[in-house]
Order: sequence, then C-alpha cells, then structure tokens
Amino acid sequence: MTWTSVSRGGGVAAALMMLGCGSDADAGPPPSQPPGWDDEVRLTTPQDLNPDPHVLELNIEARVTDLEILPGLTTPAWTYNGALPGPLIRAKKGARLVVHFKNSLPEPTTIHWHGLRIPAAMDGVPDHSQAAVEPGATFDYDFVLPDAGTYWYHPHFASAGQVGDGLYGALIVEDTVEPEELGDETVLVFSDIGVNDDGSLYPRDTGGELGTLFGREGNVHLVNGKVRPTLHVRAGLRQRWRLINAAKSRFEQLELPGNTFIRIGGEGGFIEAPEAQSRLVLAPGQRADVLVEPTLPQEHAAERRLPLRWIAYDRGFGTDYNRPDEELLELRFATGSDGRSAALPSLSRDIAPPLLEGATPVDISLTLGTTVEGGVAMGINGVPAWEAGHLLARLGEHQLWTVRNTFDWDHPFHLHGFFFQVVDVDGVAPAVREWRDTVNVPVGGTLRFAVEFDERPGMWMFHCHVLDHADIGMMGTVHVQ
Ligand code: C2O
Ligand code: CU
Repeated sequence: MTWTSVSRGGGVAAALMMLGCGSDADAGPPPSQPPGWDDEVRLTTPQDLNPDPHVLELNIEARVTDLEILPGLTTPAWTYNGALPGPLIRAKKGARLVVHFKNSLPEPTTIHWHGLRIPAAMDGVPDHSQAAVEPGATFDYDFVLPDAGTYWYHPHFASAGQVGDGLYGALIVEDTVEPEELGDETVLVFSDIGVNDDGSLYPRDTGGELGTLFGREGNVHLVNGKVRPTLHVRAGLRQRWRLINAAKSRFEQLELPGNTFIRIGGEGGFIEAPEAQSRLVLAPGQRADVLVEPTLPQEHAAERRLPLRWIAYDRGFGTDYNRPDEELLELRFATGSDGRSAALPSLSRDIAPPLLEGATPVDISLTLGTTVEGGVAMGINGVPAWEAGHLLARLGEHQLWTVRNTFDWDHPFHLHGFFFQVVDVDGVAPAVREWRDTVNVPVGGTLRFAVEFDERPGMWMFHCHVLDHADIGMMGTVHVQ
C-alpha cells in the first residue's frame, strides 16, 4: 500500500468510513508494533502491595527530586515517587484503590483525583475534604473506582505552583472488558515546566500580575516528562492514545500532519459515537481517548518520521501571537511491512439526553475584580472564592448551569465529583453526547451544562483549570445535601 491509496489519509469522512471496515478476516495474524515502540514514553508503574486482584494498594510519596529535564541540567522537580509524571495508576472499574500518601515536600499538599466520582472525603480539597497534609505527615486515600475513563491526579494546595513544578500523574480506569481491536495503548501526559539556565525552577510568581492574568506557561514543553520523545509506529497499525493535559495553564492543540484522530472517549469514558478530528484541543485538565492509524504523508516518506505538532491556541488576549508551532513527539515509522488493523467493533454508547425539564437553573459569571489591597482577583459572580458563600443542591436534584465568561480570556471550567453533559456553548450543542468534567468557556462565551447531584453529599468545588486563575479566586463550592 502506498499512502495515497489509503483512505485514512483522505480526511474526516474517509477516516470515519474506515471504522468497521479494517482488514480482511483471512489476512493472517496482524504484525505487531515495532519492538520497544513505547519505551521512551512509558510511564512508571507503582508496586501493588495488595495480593487481592480487586484492590490496588500503593505508596505514593510527594518529594522534591533532582531530574535531568534539559540535557546537562539538574532540576529539583516536585514529584510523586521521584517520577515526572508520577506513577501511572491503572485499574479496572469497580476496583478499590488504596493510596498511602506521604508528604515529603517543604509545604502542605493533598491529592485530588480529577474527574472521579468518589466520596467528598476522598476528593483532596483542603478544608472541605480533609486537612492539608503537612510536611512529614501522611494520609490514606481509599475508594472504589466507579467509572471507566481517563483521569489524572494532582495536588489541590497552591495548585498552580505545585502542579507547575511537576506534581501530576495519570489514572486510567479500564472497563470490565475493553475491546482489544482498539490497538496497543499508550498514555501521553502533556505538560510544561519553567526551567532556568542553571536548571532551577522558575519562581512561582514569574511575570507578576500579568503572569497570573495570562496563566503561566513553562518554557519547557513535555510529553511524559520528556522533551520531544520518540514513539515507534508501523504504518497502518492502530494505536490507542490516552491524552491528558496536565499543564497548569497551557492549552494543547495537537495535529499529526496527514492523519486524523478518531476520538472515541473523553473524560468520562467512551463518547456516544467516534468522532474524527484533524486537530485536537485539550484545555488544561481535559483528556481524550483517541485512535491513530499512522500514515506517512509523501513529504515525510523519505525520513520515515512524523512530528506530533503543537499549534498555539488562541485563548484570548494575544495568547497565540507570534508563537511558532512546536514538535512534541516524534513518530518513527518502522521499515518493512505495513500493519493491518483489526476491524473496529461498534463503539456507540447509549448516553441519555440530559433532563432539562424541571432542572433548577443556576447562573454564574466568571468575573475579574480587585482585592482590598488593590491587587488583581478573579471570582465567581464578582466574589473571589475566599469571600463566597456556597451554592446549594439537594441530593438527586437536576440543575442546569449557565456559566458566563465576562473576560477577554478563555476559562476551562471544572466541576469536582460529578459528570455533566454540555447542553451548548454559545448556543451550539456538541456533536456527540459525552460525560465531561472540564469544558472550555471561550472569551465572552456562555456554557450551559446539565448535572444531576444524584449521590454523595458534601462540599464540591468548581473552578477554572487555568490554575493561576483558580488560585486568585476563580473557584466556588456547591454544597450537596
Ligand atoms: Cu483538576 Cu479542582 O482540579
Ligand atoms: Cu481561568
């Protein structure tokens, strides 16, 4: 096969047509991924201390660890178990996760399990779920993983600083049965970190107030803690990528020239039906589960390499001005025979439309203000988090939230503990139904989503996932009771 004859290269419609019409049944065993295909991006896996297959029991220690992020420089990164990103937690839906957490950092911290529908006491928010874990202290997290999906974990104390300095990890919850035809899987965590010429970390207040307003981005762009690592692929042989944007402020807009991403899942597991996209945008905190059947475009055929490209995303106020594309990951195509991917099973998932009738309307605005000292503050309805009261929800209540962005910047809105369904963004309904926990609200835009606070009483946070914004007040709480 030459690349021109492969319909995958032919755009979105053609790519979707490929679903369900892969290889011939009698073509023999499919060739496998090149040896060591994911060695450079493989995340560390923690040791399971519990012999019970239904319990994953781990030790996680947050500590400062010297890492070589840029060649020849030593950077004292903030890590979980000494790794950047932290260990990959992978378990089946319904399994129990026990994490013996130890804080060996010089400041308090917690672990928040982003996107998981777990009890409020396990949600890792200081003062609402638990007291912050002081330096030298420990805390045990213990909960059941209720839903399959692509999640992540990070601190909820001085979040912009701690996440920015390296504290994040991937958490994959597999369904009881995952279709094998989806291909060999790799987890790719995107982030950035600020590293000075001497290897030290950027000060957390880099850029002053303007830095906070923009949302700080590190100068070193990372995939699984590495600068431009390599992933080995075989042309035509499907790979499943679980993508996580763990950056504190940066939007990841990704493109694989000549290829299409088939998005099969988002934050809360599979989406209603696969969606072909030539560009993928992940706001901070968002995730995607995509299939890639690598195709080598003519102009890259000779060197057999293809970069996964980052393209600056306009999140308002000149954030994409004069920012060249970057190459985040290099796909190196194996020589020899091309791969043939197994036919895909039907990937449709029944997701009932949200119940809007009788849903309680909740209106909030994301607002800019000032502190009493005259500094910049961000808030909800004109009030920064530290002055705000709680929104209320009864157990079992359906609510329809309208979130208005009064800014010249985008704000990715995140709700803890509950999935929601987007009704529309600026009046446009999403193409497919899916369960989400983080959605971007564009400049001047309005997001409407439906949520059912069906269980798990407690105090739940919502906030902007540009963590600099959250830290200066763009957070709120809903008290479910
Ligand atoms: Cu990903 Cu409140 O956080
Ligand atoms: Cu924001």
